[in-house]
Amino acid sequence: MCGISGIVDSEPIGTRLFTSIRNLEYRGYDSCGIATLHEGQINARKNTGGVDEVNSTEQLDQLPGTIGIAHTRWATHGGVTQENAHPHLSMRNEFAIAHNGIIANYQRLREQLIQQGFEFRSLTDSEVISNLLENAFYEEQDLEQALQSTLKKLEGTFGLVMISLHDPERIYAAKQESPLMVGLGEGTNYVGSDINAFLEHTRRAWVLEDGEYAVLDRERVIIRKFPSGKMVQKQVLQIEWDLETTKKGGYSHYMIKEIFDEPQTIRQVLKVPDEQIQKLAETLTGATQTYLIGVGTTFYVAQLGQYFFSILASRFFPVVSSDEFRAVGQVQPGNTVLAVSQSGETYDTKHALAMAKERGAQTAGIVNVMGSTIARMVDQVIMQGSGPEICVVSTKAALAQALILLRMALLAGGKNIPEKRRNALNQSLLDFPDLIQQVLNEKSGFVRNLANATSHVDHWLYLGCGAYYPVAMESALKMKEVTYCHAEGMPAGFLKHGTLSMVEPRVHSLLFVPPPEDAVLHGRTMVAMEEIRTRGGTVMGFYFEGDEVARPLLNHSVKLPPTDPVLAPVLQMIVAQLFAYYVALDLNRNIDKPRNLAKSVTVG
Ligand code: G6P
Repeated sequence: MCGISGIVDSEPIGTRLFTSIRNLEYRGYDSCGIATLHEGQINARKNTGGVDEVNSTEQLDQLPGTIGIAHTRWATHGGVTQENAHPHLSMRNEFAIAHNGIIANYQRLREQLIQQGFEFRSLTDSEVISNLLENAFYEEQDLEQALQSTLKKLEGTFGLVMISLHDPERIYAAKQESPLMVGLGEGTNYVGSDINAFLEHTRRAWVLEDGEYAVLDRERVIIRKFPSGKMVQKQVLQIEWDLETTKKGGYSHYMIKEIFDEPQTIRQVLKVPDEQIQKLAETLTGATQTYLIGVGTTFYVAQLGQYFFSILASRFFPVVSSDEFRAVGQVQPGNTVLAVSQSGETYDTKHALAMAKERGAQTAGIVNVMGSTIARMVDQVIMQGSGPEICVVSTKAALAQALILLRMALLAGGKNIPEKRRNALNQSLLDFPDLIQQVLNEKSGFVRNLANATSHVDHWLYLGCGAYYPVAMESALKMKEVTYCHAEGMPAGFLKHGTLSMVEPRVHSLLFVPPPEDAVLHGRTMVAMEEIRTRGGTVMGFYFEGDEVARPLLNHSVKLPPTDPVLAPVLQMIVAQLFAYYVALDLNRNIDKPRNLAKSVTVG
């Protein structure tokens, strides 16, 4: 993880550099720093804490200079300390680097450098890079050569930016597995981990591939391969994201803002052309075996997709958590692996796809971030068009992915679904943005009261049957991520096979109750509810209007307007997002940046 950026201009860049890491903060936020070049020396300021917090003590945005690099960290090697924060300067302070990734062979490199007389200030893997550069420069007397020979020595993953006293007008950047993009400005150029680093300044970007490095000055950017040094010509990626969606727009947190973006998110999903979704549906159904993968929220979204394909297209696709795919996925030529990923950069998902490719399978993705690695590496991609999602926990992006999978399953089911049924579901999909708007308008106050009444609860069981099961799992994850409370999701029918022993009045259960017309699932959910009630457990439920069976049995409840039974679990997922948000708000949690997490986990 970590967010890195760099700017070269003729005007002071302190404020812009600071803003760039603020915009990348969802990539990591335990410490941060900036280094600029000014009057023949490198000035670096860094410390522990979030970007605003560090700025209030270190005045990062006041650093003078027209060229500089910045970093916001999610610690892997070396604890969260000021010394371990980036940028890292070389021993003689002639080079400064900011790094995202892991240098696997750093210990050996560090020992070699120490033997050559280098001293280290941090416990990070990254610091070897600045000293390797300095060492190489003294041997080669050429900066680009020094970069090339340093890159040759590095094993592992890196998105890297560097400035040096020996070339005060240029930023050097290199990529191996960790994402990196160049932003093309007018008389100024940018580099960053993703487009949010420079979206305010330019919509034109070049995406770096593995094994490429860039040399940026104010007027131009040159990209070469390493180690060959061969120049690379790039296509410009025109970024279409709306800048306004990166702003909080009056909301107190991105999470609630992004939940309230959801009606619009659904409208975007409905704009994805049928042909595109149909084509991917055919790839999935035509494969000898199809796997769906994702991790964290996207794993549960993939599971929800699994139910949609089963319900609507009578197809069973195994779902595997990306991090376990290597261990269990028996991929062969003729198979297809569909990955779901908001960022398109998640290490575990990328590596699962790489394995699938290696073994001759087809790959596909549902991805939000344009120009991301997964979007570019797969054979077929659907860009979900949800716009920037800034809050670390995923809400609107997950919703969009779920609905794309639903549309895909519907198209895969095709003529096998009775026409009347198909039309009804299509109509409900068209009505869904307005329905969600109505639920957000009418229910959020109520959900907030419920959250306030239950925010003292430390242990939650989240239970659902059928497609409500992945929704229960995802909702429990949301609750854990943002409130730090213990929430355990499971199939409602699974409860009696062990976890029921936990039930007592202090343990609350949240049941995802299907509409009564979904009789089998409704009945099974009621059984679980009774099992809890008879053991004195407290039961909360999301249920649909007209359900006179569930309502009287619930200690707390949210009544929802009717929708198509296939969309009903998706609607409840949104209500659970609201609930998690308001509990976190009541508990005064760091909602947009929960402790220990990062949005884009680019390390294994
Ligand atoms: C991280 C985030 C999760 C997210 C997961 C997958 O762990 O904290 O919220 O669900 O990555 O991310 P992706 O970008 O691949 O959807």
